[in-house]
Amino acid sequence: MRVVRIIKLIRPTMVIALVVLSSWTSAEENQASPQAIEFFEKKIRPILVERCVECHGPEEQSGGLRLDSVSAIQTGGDQGPPFQPTDLDHSLLIKAVRFTDQDFQMPPTGKIPDQEIQLLEEWIKAGGSMPAPTSRLSPSTIAKIIGRISRSRNQIHPR
Ligand code: HEC
Repeated sequence: MRVVRIIKLIRPTMVIALVVLSSWTSAEENQASPQAIEFFEKKIRPILVERCVECHGPEEQSGGLRLDSVSAIQTGGDQGPPFQPTDLDHSLLIKAVRFTDQDFQMPPTGKIPDQEIQLLEEWIKAGGSMPAPTSRLSPSTIAKIIGRISRSRNQIHPR
């Protein structure tokens, strides 16, 4: 019975450590340069918004895919992430806009201008940098989780 009690005590601490760690690592993971982020915001996001979000956004998520936020782009759709950084030939998004596959062409209503296809290629070739997703846990969310854990802990061990 001793062991069970120890595990009950340790578990909340581990959860807290994991939550804090995950928020740190996601901040460190984002190594996009300011120039790369500016390229995404000025050249790429407008193309996605204008050409894709109509069917891949808040109203419709064709293929399970949304292209209206960084975290959604990273997650991808039914077939997984829409691109492989630096790898144009294995990036679904590039295949889609190039119109090389008759059964998979995006937007289905017609090819976007070559200049925009080139910008998308340039972006992914350089690594597909994006700003950090905004859906990361905020400090207040972390505080709430910790509060909830310590409350449940007090219920297990009433003072
Ligand atoms: C008029 C609606 C429409 C527009 C606009 C559109 N799509 Fe799609 N998209 C679809 C539909 C429907 C599917 C699912 C069927 C399929 O995979 O062929 C899809 C699927 C996809 C997929 C595969 C998702 C997965 O994981 O299965 C990708 C990638 C994609 N679209 C990229 C784009 C890009 C990039 C744009 C903008 C340049 C775009 N789409 C614009 C309708 C649209």
